[in-house]
Amino acid sequence: MQKKTCALKILLLALSLAILFSIFLLVAKFNHLYGQKITNSVEMRQDIISLPEPRLSSDVSIEETMSNRRSIRDFTDEHLSLEELSQLLFASQGITDGTHRTVPSAGALYPIEIYALVDKVQNISPGFYHYVPDTHSLQYISSSSIKADIPAIAYHQSWMEDSAADIVIAADYSRTEKKYGRMAEKYVHMEVGHAAQNIYLQAYALGLGTTIVAGFENAKMKKLMGIEYMPLAIMPVGKT
Ligand SMILES: Cc1cc2nc3c(=O)[nH]c(=O)nc-3n(C[C@H](O)[C@H](O)[C@H](O)COP(=O)(O)O)c2cc1C
Repeated sequence: MQKKTCALKILLLALSLAILFSIFLLVAKFNHLYGQKITNSVEMRQDIISLPEPRLSSDVSIEETMSNRRSIRDFTDEHLSLEELSQLLFASQGITDGTHRTVPSAGALYPIEIYALVDKVQNISPGFYHYVPDTHSLQYISSSSIKADIPAIAYHQSWMEDSAADIVIAADYSRTEKKYGRMAEKYVHMEVGHAAQNIYLQAYALGLGTTIVAGFENAKMKKLMGIEYMPLAIMPVGKT
């Protein structure tokens, strides 16, 4: 009788263990199937970073800004604030009235695409981002530190290493070519100049420094960034 009770207890224990193990397997499978999707969707949401609203007034006059703007190549180690990066990106291509932007564009075709290679900016991880004017946001592309590789393809301009972020002005010539044919190259390059000057003036008004760098190997930079558009200017920015 005692033997029978003991065997029954062992059987019950084995059965309970089997049930517990099955529950464990089911939970693990569920987690594998759905947990990954949940994690990915969280990452997807973080892929888009809403930028602070740009401010539309300043204590610094446009006249003072134009007469004091200089190319600055010495930067401190200080981080930029996200507000400052947001303001610079808005200056480069921000949408102002629902359709038009802070810069003129031949036929309003907007061939310019802006990228931010971030090293030291508050509240944003170092990495490579694409500016989305429609939503005034940054699209995260990758965490790779391609910024550090730029001086090597910019004829060893080592001062570029010290910037807090590099704003890259790239262009899709085809958008302008469709309407303007062989005139497009000229127009696109003018538009790069407009964007660059806005970044210069905005940087001065924010007490930041920048310089336009066109002395780099464009095709190598395009390959380094892995983008479909041609990078035409790099603007390292930082605190001075
Ligand atoms: C098209 C263009 C390309 C330039 N490329 C570089 C460059 O590769 N590296 C650099 O340090 N400065 C570059 N500059 C900045 C000029 O050196 C600078 O504007 C010039 O010395 C005048 O100084 P300022 O901007 O302070 O008035 C470039 C400027 C322009 C307009």
